Amino acid sequence: MEQKRYGHFDDAHREYVITDPQTPWPWINYLGNEDFFSLISNTAGGYSFYKDAKFRRITRYRYNNVPMDNGGRYFYLVDNDCVWNPGWKPCKTPLDFYECRHGMGYTRITGCKNQIEASVLFFVPLRKWAEVQKLTLTNHSQEVKHLKLFSFEEWCLWNAATDMENFQRNFSTGEVEIEGSTIYHKTEYRERRNHYAFYHVNCPIDGFDTDRETFVGLYNGFDEPEAVLEGRPRNSHAHGWSPIASHYIEVSLQPSESRDFVFLLGYIENEQEKKFTAPQVINKEKAHQLIDSLDTTEKVDQAFRELQEYWDGLLSIYHVRTGNDKLDRMVNIWNQYQCMVTFNFSRSASFFESGIGRGMGFRDSNQDLVGFVHQIPSRARQRIIDIASTQFPDGGCYHQYQPLTKRGNNDIGGGFNDDPCWLIFGTVAYLKETGDFTILDEMVPFDNQEGTEVTLFEHLKVSLDHVIRNLGPHRLPLIGRADWNDCLNLNCFSWDPNESFQTTENKSEGSKAESLMIAGLFVVTAKEYVALCKELAKRMRNEELGMRNGDYLASAESAGGGNHHSSFLISHSSLLEEASRMQQAIDDMIDAVKRDGWDGEWYLRAYDYFGQKIGSHENDEGRIFIESQGWCTMAEIGADEGMTAKSLDSVKKYLECEHGIVLQNPAFTTYHVEMGEISSYPEGYKENAGIFCHNNPWVIIGECIAGRGNDAWSHYAKILPSYVEEKCQMLHKVEPYVNCQMVAGKDAARPGEGKNSWLTGTAAWMWLTVSEYILGIKPDYDGLLIDPCLPATAGDYTVTRRFRDAVYDITIHPNGSQKGVRQIIVDGTPVSGTLIPYAPGRHQVEVRL
Ligand code: BGC
Ligand code: NOJ
Repeated sequence: MEQKRYGHFDDAHREYVITDPQTPWPWINYLGNEDFFSLISNTAGGYSFYKDAKFRRITRYRYNNVPMDNGGRYFYLVDNDCVWNPGWKPCKTPLDFYECRHGMGYTRITGCKNQIEASVLFFVPLRKWAEVQKLTLTNHSQEVKHLKLFSFEEWCLWNAATDMENFQRNFSTGEVEIEGSTIYHKTEYRERRNHYAFYHVNCPIDGFDTDRETFVGLYNGFDEPEAVLEGRPRNSHAHGWSPIASHYIEVSLQPSESRDFVFLLGYIENEQEKKFTAPQVINKEKAHQLIDSLDTTEKVDQAFRELQEYWDGLLSIYHVRTGNDKLDRMVNIWNQYQCMVTFNFSRSASFFESGIGRGMGFRDSNQDLVGFVHQIPSRARQRIIDIASTQFPDGGCYHQYQPLTKRGNNDIGGGFNDDPCWLIFGTVAYLKETGDFTILDEMVPFDNQEGTEVTLFEHLKVSLDHVIRNLGPHRLPLIGRADWNDCLNLNCFSWDPNESFQTTENKSEGSKAESLMIAGLFVVTAKEYVALCKELAKRMRNEELGMRNGDYLASAESAGGGNHHSSFLISHSSLLEEASRMQQAIDDMIDAVKRDGWDGEWYLRAYDYFGQKIGSHENDEGRIFIESQGWCTMAEIGADEGMTAKSLDSVKKYLECEHGIVLQNPAFTTYHVEMGEISSYPEGYKENAGIFCHNNPWVIIGECIAGRGNDAWSHYAKILPSYVEEKCQMLHKVEPYVNCQMVAGKDAARPGEGKNSWLTGTAAWMWLTVSEYILGIKPDYDGLLIDPCLPATAGDYTVTRRFRDAVYDITIHPNGSQKGVRQIIVDGTPVSGTLIPYAPGRHQVEVRL
């Protein structure tokens, strides 16, 4: 049973090939890179939106439906009495052949029935606000075939939330226009909207429908639309109710003949003064231009090639050859791809996130940056500014913001006391990747209020000060509403099932609740801040001395053009003072953790509202938590005293299981009002002792820092999708090519079952872990640090790393060693230490451990 397979990797094409449409859960892909996005399942279900899945939803979707994954872009083919879809759904007519290939920003679904092949290539071209659906019909039979083709999309009335609620209004607002082969959706355009959508096909049509009930029939489902079953469109014109778009085309195919149809789902925005060309008639000029740019097979194929070249480029920045396919495909393809997707979407739109509830998370987006910054630094730069702009003057921040408005989200507000630290985490990653220190001079407002601008560097400073100014009775960080673990709600005390743990009153006034997770996070990020201050001081001193250091200037000038050093307005000495001020805060924090945060065999997790220990051997349940083990070992707190080694051993002893490391142990068996949501989940799920893949890498990095390569690798391989894919596709349930947020833990009813796939910080953390800590190539201000941590069995491997204007071909010879660089030779010359100094050009590097 468990061995059943639904697909396989095709590394040469960078695709996952699904061969059975009845996957254990919809296995989806994402189309689009910047503005226009689509989610698409392996049976063509899903929806599209422009920038914001809540406020600019283009097509409608029903979540958690019966059957699951109901609605999408559907093609119906009528071949005499046989009605079928290339993606099997919704008609579910058995196919003679089915295949879905999810690739980098595209999905190709092919179905064959009665010697007709229908293959649809779905993608969003670069820089275009449109989804292309190139349908190719081929007649493999010996006779002429007369087919009827119906397309189908259902419009969402833009705001995906009110679209599901406000029917007394919605059923009267829907409006469309039909022009040739294009169906325009213009609901609310007459009033405050200046955007519309369209669905076009590049050939004359023989009919259409735009009213859902007329096309489908009130008592039918998507699997039996009346118009299709009768083989006759109604040419309906929607007025209110639920507008849709369906083209009808009669197709005759000679034996062996093949024909392409280019369908285009587009989104247009008009200027206020140019909305209409006549009363009630929308200005279609931009739609015509968009259509013209993609109205032939040649143009579409060209756009598709550009998309593929774009991914060739992105994926050539870090490329490894270890000889282990399972590792190489995750590092070179899927992990990086998932990082792009999480960067684009944060936690907003997936098959587990409705796109309505959440915008971009402050901590989430900063973490996503770290997996993405090497791909497109300029986008990462903008993101950092956007995120920082939602910070408050005291360093606290909005927990989320909406991508469309870039404004902080008042529904959830702030008070998550880990949030500020993540800004350092994200910004430092950007600085090290690019060497672009000018970002620190950017004037960035607080809470998007004009007139409040300070430099980004100042934002970093207030971030850490927020922690320092919010210490509790043990001089450990007060947790606020929650730290990384949104479900450890120590200040919430909720007995009311009608309130959300995430937004209910935060009773942190007078609270003694402190977090060891924030303590570790603070030490790690504050150390980075200290190093940054020193780096800036060094650069400033170099300039003051007129020392035009060749390497530095080269990097400054070449990393994207223009002047890339910071004209930072703080003096050299005040930077060093700032560094020592922060170093003092770090030392104090370390002392506090050693004094009041160590439980004997592991780090405590927290103190609750009343000052009681959480995550201690004194507790009955939740005795040991992963978060503080991860962060305090990454921070190396008490390493000399053996604390980190003991902590990592305790993780193996109490938290590790077959499928990964669980979040805590033992799981909570009852609800604890003083802990909140964490204890609301059944044992083994989500934050209540699920395997929260996101935080497994913290421990793995802790292992790497401690030099324990075998342990790091065994933890890593347990949650590496390609290993899981081979072991248990059916049990795991969700997509086997990406990480999911949570795999049911050892206390669960079904350990190993995955949930919440795609949008998770796991992507960025897995990337950081493997690229910088296991394979050991770590960007730094002045070059690449080389410090792998490997299983003793690792063989030689090569990493090609593009870094600023240089390319390094790095071959590592582990010689059976888990850690410890003995020698680095760059272009034939040995360098001392573990840093390859940055210099433009291509370089050959040999590393011996
Ligand atoms: C989930 C968390 C999530 C939080 C915020 C909770 O229900 O379990 O994983 O961070 O909601 O949306
Ligand atoms: C998911 C949220 O997106 C993230 O911000 C949080 O840290 C984790 N869940 C843990 O609760």
